[in-house]
Amino acid sequence: MRIIRADNYEEMSKKAADIVKSQVILKPDCVLGLATGDTPLGMYSELINMYENKEVDFSDVTIFNLDEYCKLNRENAQSYFYYMNHNFFKYINVKKKNTHIPNGNAKDIDEECRDYERQIKNKGGIDLQVLGIGANGHIGFNEPAINFEAETHLVKLDEMTIEANSRFFNSIAEVPTSAISMGIKTIMQSRMLILLANGEAKVDAIFKTAKGKINPKVPASIIQLHPNATIIVEKYAAKLL
Ligand code: GLP
Repeated sequence: MRIIRADNYEEMSKKAADIVKSQVILKPDCVLGLATGDTPLGMYSELINMYENKEVDFSDVTIFNLDEYCKLNRENAQSYFYYMNHNFFKYINVKKKNTHIPNGNAKDIDEECRDYERQIKNKGGIDLQVLGIGANGHIGFNEPAINFEAETHLVKLDEMTIEANSRFFNSIAEVPTSAISMGIKTIMQSRMLILLANGEAKVDAIFKTAKGKINPKVPASIIQLHPNATIIVEKYAAKLL
């Protein structure tokens, strides 16, 4: 596993955007796996600038997002569907039909999960997966004690995650308690992974991910076994590395 250190959030975001841009230049019809949360917002801004400066073209790119809340309307500003459209997709030339986010309102959630997995396979798998990390070490919504063999599946959110994500909602009672998430197996099958982290809240999770024992209690620790994984970490989150 490679560790790239950055002095600040802007540098972390720029380095991540450079890697995504390189991937798209190398393989214009590549498949990107993308993440939500505060962490990758700077990377999306950089990529939008690069697109506007004609440094990168997303017209043949396919995107699969990591996860989506269940039972939240897609038009709700806290849905990941809304987040991706409003923070990234609407500013670039990716084709709508090539963007995929699990449908957390599907009637048959298990079938939705199987279908998501099928669609990823039909596209030849994910070339580059971008990850953030929860303070409890989750990636996507793969919470501690996850089964490492899981593919896209329904997850019950951890109390710590509900608490952390309640900052985006009016009250904790509004935070969805379940979600659809790519599984660890899906994530590990990506040909390349980059995990971004910044801020003191991630110190412990980053230390355990990079230097701890591989353990389902720290889901991100499994990426130590990935042949092409890179952590891009800003100095406050890297304090214990
Ligand atoms: C969320 C998402 C993750 C994200 C993580 C960290 O719950 N499901 O994909 O990486 O929490 O979010 P943030 O970047 O806001 O700290």
